[in-house]
Amino acid sequence: MTKSVQNHHLMWDGCDTVALAKKYGTPLYVFSVNEIVKECQNIKAAFTEKYPNTRIAYASKAFSTIAMLQLIEKEGLCLDVVSGGELYTAIAANFPAERIEFNGNNKSIEELTLALEYGVGRIIVDGLQEIDLLQKIAQEKNKQVKILFRITPEVKAATHDFISTGQKDSKFGIPLDEEILWPTIQKAIDAPNIHFLGFHFHVGSQLADNAAHLAAAKIALDLVLAVKERCHYEVQELNYGGGFGVKYLPSDLRQPYSYFLTPLMELTEAFCTAHQLTRPTIVIEPGRSIVAEAGISLHTIGAIKELPGIRKYASIDGGMTDNIRPGLYQAKYTGLLANKADLPNEEVVTISGKACESTDILTKDLALPKVQTGDIFATFSTGAYGYSMASNYNKLAIPAVVFVKDGQDALVVKRQSYEQMIQNECSALAFI
Ligand code: LLP
Repeated sequence: MTKSVQNHHLMWDGCDTVALAKKYGTPLYVFSVNEIVKECQNIKAAFTEKYPNTRIAYASKAFSTIAMLQLIEKEGLCLDVVSGGELYTAIAANFPAERIEFNGNNKSIEELTLALEYGVGRIIVDGLQEIDLLQKIAQEKNKQVKILFRITPEVKAATHDFISTGQKDSKFGIPLDEEILWPTIQKAIDAPNIHFLGFHFHVGSQLADNAAHLAAAKIALDLVLAVKERCHYEVQELNYGGGFGVKYLPSDLRQPYSYFLTPLMELTEAFCTAHQLTRPTIVIEPGRSIVAEAGISLHTIGAIKELPGIRKYASIDGGMTDNIRPGLYQAKYTGLLANKADLPNEEVVTISGKACESTDILTKDLALPKVQTGDIFATFSTGAYGYSMASNYNKLAIPAVVFVKDGQDALVVKRQSYEQMIQNECSALAFI
């Protein structure tokens, strides 16, 4: 069990979280290595180990650090990156280039050049312009580049609008418009330095319903058939994206991977058999589901304020700068006092962040034991899109990250210092 309680303290993968807070300071992200490995094993069992000719590419935007990418590499997964910075981190982690896929709706010349120089396995092309750019760079470098087209499947996913990506009006992907799509495909087939492999879609994130994936897969498969009929070209690969939802609150529904993947593969195989197509390689791109529940955040409670008849606020030494999700998506979190983990609840408290922003509230009206300044508050399920979306707003420092495993801990990202925070700033005294 990743989570347990010993001497009233919350334990995470065998480590005392209160001792971790003391050793490394707060705010602190703590990731259970065993939990990440378990997720990797679960998804492999439901996908790559069950169906031949499949791949899993971890979407590194969820949480990308050298240590994390080393773990993903060790687990045998591939990697999805969406920027030069994510690619650079992968290179620094020695992630094998052939196992990297490069997504993104506005890749720069510099990013595409870096990707080609490193030799990434796939570029997921997001628009017509990118094909010309890629052909030009590939020709200059005398390289062949394997690509997929990200399509806009025109399906609406059942999730928050801000993390829905497959609808028709979207900045992502190539529209299914006759006049745009077909010339784009033909161009890719004809481009001498481009090897067109197939299609990619991503319908949205934090999904507990498989309908959007299934609808989009049907559209992608229809395209595979149409490409064969219209262009006499066999699509070899399809990427069905990520989006598998996780549990933030105990009441959240987390579907097993098989809930999404079994019907997706059944649909795919049935379609290919019915139309005498060789089933393409199928790739998926999970981010959140691999790391969200493995990670917790630790904060120290500072100021406590009682507004008579209204609410009691306890402020932590971080907040929206290390977890923007409540402020951005009205995401709900829960947590507990790590140093009073099994004490009875005595009061209802709202945990607020430190930033000068009214929306910087982590959890509202949470039942807790008596809250005191100096208590350690642990928030669950902050492993995905927490550290990766952290900011220096109000010039708060980016927290440290610790990996824990069977009672051992290792620092994997050092806390940012004030000095590091201003290291790129230059004096303007001579100019103003
Ligand atoms: N592939 C593509 C092309 C994507 O755009 C995304 C997420 C993923 C894979 C991974 O999706 P996941 O399995 O993590 O759901 N910051 C937001 C999430 C934005 C996701 C954007 N794309 C949040 O904190 O909820």
